[in-house]
Amino acid sequence: MYEGDHVPTRPNFRAFLLRRAEESQTLGRLLRVLDVGVGTGDQWLGLLRTGKIDFHATSLTAVGMRIDIMKYTVTCTAAGLHRKFPPDYFDLVVAHYGTHYTQKSGLENILWVAKPGGSILVTGEGNMPPIASPENFGLFYRILNSDTYKAERKEDCWFYMLRKEFRSLE
Ligand SMILES: C[S@@+](CC[C@H](N)C(=O)[O-])C[C@H]1O[C@@H](n2cnc3c(N)ncnc32)[C@H](O)[C@@H]1O
Repeated sequence: MYEGDHVPTRPNFRAFLLRRAEESQTLGRLLRVLDVGVGTGDQWLGLLRTGKIDFHATSLTAVGMRIDIMKYTVTCTAAGLHRKFPPDYFDLVVAHYGTHYTQKSGLENILWVAKPGGSILVTGEGNMPPIASPENFGLFYRILNSDTYKAERKEDCWFYMLRKEFRSLE
C-alpha cells in the first residue's frame, strides 16, 4: 500500500486506485473507498490530496493516527461495519492487517458494505478465513485472487482479492 520506487512491472496499488477513481469520475461521481483498520493513515495522505476519492476509514484506536485522517475515521471493529455503514455502499474496501481476531466476521461485514461489482482487498495473519465454503456465501462473490505468503515479523499471512457479485440481502 506504500509508494516505492517506480517499477513498471510491479503491481501498483496507487495506480490501480487512481485508474478506478478516474473511471468513476467519467460517470460523474467520486470512487467511494473504505479502509478497515487504517492505522496511521500515512498511506492515504497523497491520494486524498488528489481529491479523487470519497474516503472512509475505521480503526479501534486513534493512537498514532494522522490528524488529517481522523475526520474520515469511525471507531468500529471489522465485525461491526454493518452498524456504521449501509449495505452495498463502497466501490472498494481494503483491510491491510485490519481484521485481527475477527477475520471471518470481518470479511463477511466487508462483503456486506461493498457494492455489487465492488472490489475487496484483504490481508491477514494466521488461518485464512474459509470464505470459499458453500455455507458462507456460495456465489455471492468471486475470488479473483488469493494466496498465502511469509512477511517479516509476522505469522503466516494471506490475502484475498474479491469482487462482490450481488446485492446484500436484508
Ligand atoms: C497492523 S495495523 C495496520 C494499519 C494499516 N492498515 C497499514 O497497513 O499500515 C492494524 C490496524 O487495524 C485496526 N484493527 C485491528 N484489528 C481490527 C479489527 N478486528 N477491527 C477493526 N480494526 C482493527 C487497528 O486499530 C489498527 O488501526
